[in-house]
Amino acid sequence: MNHAQSNRKNEHLSLATKFWREEKNPVIGPTFDDVRWVPGPLNNQSVATVDHSVELFGQHFDWPFYIEAMTGGSASTMRVNADLATVASKKNLAMAVGSQSVALKDAAQAASFQIVREKHPDGFLFANLGADHPIENVRAAVNMIEANAIEIHVNLAQELAMAEGDRRFYWLDNLASVIAKSPVPVIIKEVGFGMGPDLIKQLAALKPAAINIGGANGTSFAKIEQARDRQNENPIDFSAFGLSTVESLLAAEKSETKTPIIATGGIQSAKNITTSLMLGASLASSAGYFLKTLMADGPAGLEAEISLWQQQLPLYMTLLGAQRVENLVQAKRLYSPNLTNSLKQL
Ligand SMILES: Cc1cc2nc3c(=O)[nH]c(=O)nc-3n(C[C@H](O)[C@H](O)[C@H](O)COP(=O)(O)O)c2cc1C
Repeated sequence: MNHAQSNRKNEHLSLATKFWREEKNPVIGPTFDDVRWVPGPLNNQSVATVDHSVELFGQHFDWPFYIEAMTGGSASTMRVNADLATVASKKNLAMAVGSQSVALKDAAQAASFQIVREKHPDGFLFANLGADHPIENVRAAVNMIEANAIEIHVNLAQELAMAEGDRRFYWLDNLASVIAKSPVPVIIKEVGFGMGPDLIKQLAALKPAAINIGGANGTSFAKIEQARDRQNENPIDFSAFGLSTVESLLAAEKSETKTPIIATGGIQSAKNITTSLMLGASLASSAGYFLKTLMADGPAGLEAEISLWQQQLPLYMTLLGAQRVENLVQAKRLYSPNLTNSLKQL
């Protein structure tokens, strides 16, 4: 058994939960609060007829948000995956598993990912691997959970923050090959440092099914990895690096990409989802906040929180005169001076 990797999964989970609980995630750049919604013209519409579903990858999603990639790879993370998948199934949400790399090295860990398919038999599930994995591993990860799509994370900063992380990043050719050969749609995703316009353009040219801009202001792997590596007295300082989720969404707009965009990073309400969809995301997802809610209030608490989001989203859409999710991009908004400044410079 690969104890080191399983141990790392447990540490990620406990430290992410701790920083969310203590509200100690660093704030980098403009946040969701830097976008205000302008009252628009009245529409003849009712809350009951709001259509909150999304079509993406030729698939139907009942809700424009899902539970983002977090975990698997140890006994305790298996319990977390089981709880997340049970709630996702009850609330009809898609869900991503954490990196399955650990289970490709140690088959005994596959069960901690397969539990997600067991608990969410008809759900849309995203497999997850790093950008250096060859197509054989992609096929194995997809088969492991009968995934409907796969997320490939490009986590340069996280690797550099980890004492045991990668130091070689020859990813581009492999990404192109994986995208061309994958049996399911491939989403390229960041893990919380965001993406600028040039990166988005470069990744879009590889023709993935979607790009998840994975922005800052939620879970911070710079903080988590540095907390794990206490012996390191001279950690590198990531505080100047990264874009927030709203900045990354504006960067995607600047890049003029036609590739669908997914918004993750610091999403903790139906309001944040609404703003993400206004800024051009096709789907939004949340990781750390759902984890914190599950750890603090159990599966029933997480289910109640998601029910609240599902109740509020049609209200927000009505407020903005949006009958359908794609109408939200037309809603007028005001950007704070901070965000306007980012937009100008990007
Ligand atoms: C405990 C934990 C483990 C994570 N592990 C993975 C992973 O294995 N693969 C991945 O692509 N992202 C992983 N992420 C990153 C999330 O998918 C997401 O991109 C990031 O946390 C930002 O979203 P948030 O602010 O809603 O947490 C992890 C996040 C957390 C909190």
